[in-house]
Amino acid sequence: MDTVIGIIGGSGVYEIDGLEDAQWISVEGPFGAPSDDLLVGKLNGVKMVFLPRHGRGHVQTPSTVNYRANIDALKRAGVTDVISVSACGSFREEMAPGDFVIVDQFIDRTFDREKSFFGPGCVAHVSVAHPTCPRLSQHCYDAALSAGITAHMGGTYLAMEGPQFSTLAESKMYREHWGADVIGMTNMPEAKLAREAELCYASVAMITDYDSWHPDHGEVDVTQIIATLMGNASKAKSIIAQLPERLGEARSDCPHGCDKALEFAIITQPE
Ligand code: ADE
Repeated sequence: MDTVIGIIGGSGVYEIDGLEDAQWISVEGPFGAPSDDLLVGKLNGVKMVFLPRHGRGHVQTPSTVNYRANIDALKRAGVTDVISVSACGSFREEMAPGDFVIVDQFIDRTFDREKSFFGPGCVAHVSVAHPTCPRLSQHCYDAALSAGITAHMGGTYLAMEGPQFSTLAESKMYREHWGADVIGMTNMPEAKLAREAELCYASVAMITDYDSWHPDHGEVDVTQIIATLMGNASKAKSIIAQLPERLGEARSDCPHGCDKALEFAIITQPE
């Protein structure tokens, strides 16, 4: 099997540099329209598929992104490994704006999104105890370090509905009582759906701010986020550029079983 790398680009990452034979293709499926067409091409001999999470021009809100259609489109395009790139706020002093976190856990507080490909007629319960792929995450971390990025391996991402940022009380609660390290609006249900689609999934979260808890930093606003994003986007691109070589053209089975997640998950009896 060949490796096909899927990149879901978040705020500030709307394209991939240096793709050969690049073309935007439209992919349709039963879950409605994805956020945009897919940008498909090759990088160092490996097929790459890029999807801007919010669409070109940033037109989808975190709640209106069609996460099911996005993951379904990547799966239909043959993607084996998904790298999610997104902006986030930090709850930790030592995780500073400009740093990257390779997320390994989530607290899902989203409520206004379709969260499963399954439903009446075909009932399935996949495990998301370990929602990211350790192998793919390690490649992202190694790539970040070799690009000179200050990166943190592992961290708990609190996924909130938005679009407003958190209140001070929420920010303090997530940080002090819930043990979250970073906060964002987009990684859920994306990670859960990637697991249902038996795709390896890694999350590269780019810190843009300290949310609102930090006494020296005041409250978060979009101007501050965009200023930090400008620097973060080029760092994210330097990670993406290394992935074809690190993952290699030929793909072996995932040692953690991400690609077999449905093996014991479907409860409905076949007819
Ligand atoms: N994205 C970037 N910064 C954020 C924050 N502080 N809260 C939620 N989403 C974010």
